[in-house]
Amino acid sequence: MPPGTMNGETSSAGRWDRRYSAAAEPPFGEAPNEYLRMIAARSDFAVRRVLSLADGDGRNGAWLAAQGCAVTAVDCSAVATERAVELDRRRGVAVTRIVADLAEWVPAPGDAWDAVFVIYLQGTRGLRLRALEVAAGALAPGGWLVVEGFSKAQAGRPDIGPDDPDRLYDLEELRAAASGLEVVEALAGRLRLDEGPRHRGEAEVVRFAARRPG
Ligand SMILES: C[S@@+](CC[C@H](N)C(=O)[O-])C[C@H]1O[C@@H](n2cnc3c(N)ncnc32)[C@H](O)[C@@H]1O
Repeated sequence: MPPGTMNGETSSAGRWDRRYSAAAEPPFGEAPNEYLRMIAARSDFAVRRVLSLADGDGRNGAWLAAQGCAVTAVDCSAVATERAVELDRRRGVAVTRIVADLAEWVPAPGDAWDAVFVIYLQGTRGLRLRALEVAAGALAPGGWLVVEGFSKAQAGRPDIGPDDPDRLYDLEELRAAASGLEVVEALAGRLRLDEGPRHRGEAEVVRFAARRPG
């Protein structure tokens, strides 16, 4: 069986390893995601420990670390994580990077974060819900859950992001997943992305931020 396959099916890690290996430049650029930067600029966003789920080749984790955050980053792709470590080295920052599948990964007992970012984890509904459950459960009191991803309205527009509706977000799902949290903003709409060659052009997205009370 070729590497990256399980029971004949391509695993998330195998699929993403191949995508990153084939990329001539960072697929989503090296600048941080715009929404993450907007949240970080808020006057009420004062965080120290940050978890970035599906951090990819590191643009978000490395930037957050450069802002002074203690960052833990998880991604299933070993290829992306190797590149992320190289980006951290170039930026002179330290990020705790973990290669793991979010279908299974659990934080160590007692670990808690002041913010958890889930930026463009475009997995199946099952994977999204599990990652959001882990994210919400890992928040310290007052902690932030921040999500950006392509919305269901992006289905049928295969130029950017997944075409399969099962891999696209909607706000109802996010609100339900964050039911114990206070929603700060829940936005859906079209914007122009300019984040590397894979995220360039008009896209339908959701932007969602919520806080654990306390
Ligand atoms: C569209 S990329 C976004 C990467 C990064 N968040 C960014 O904004 O640059 C999606 C990322 O999700 C990761 N991913 C997909 N399925 C995953 C899973 N089951 N467990 C962990 N990471 C996963 C991929 O390896 C990839 O790095």
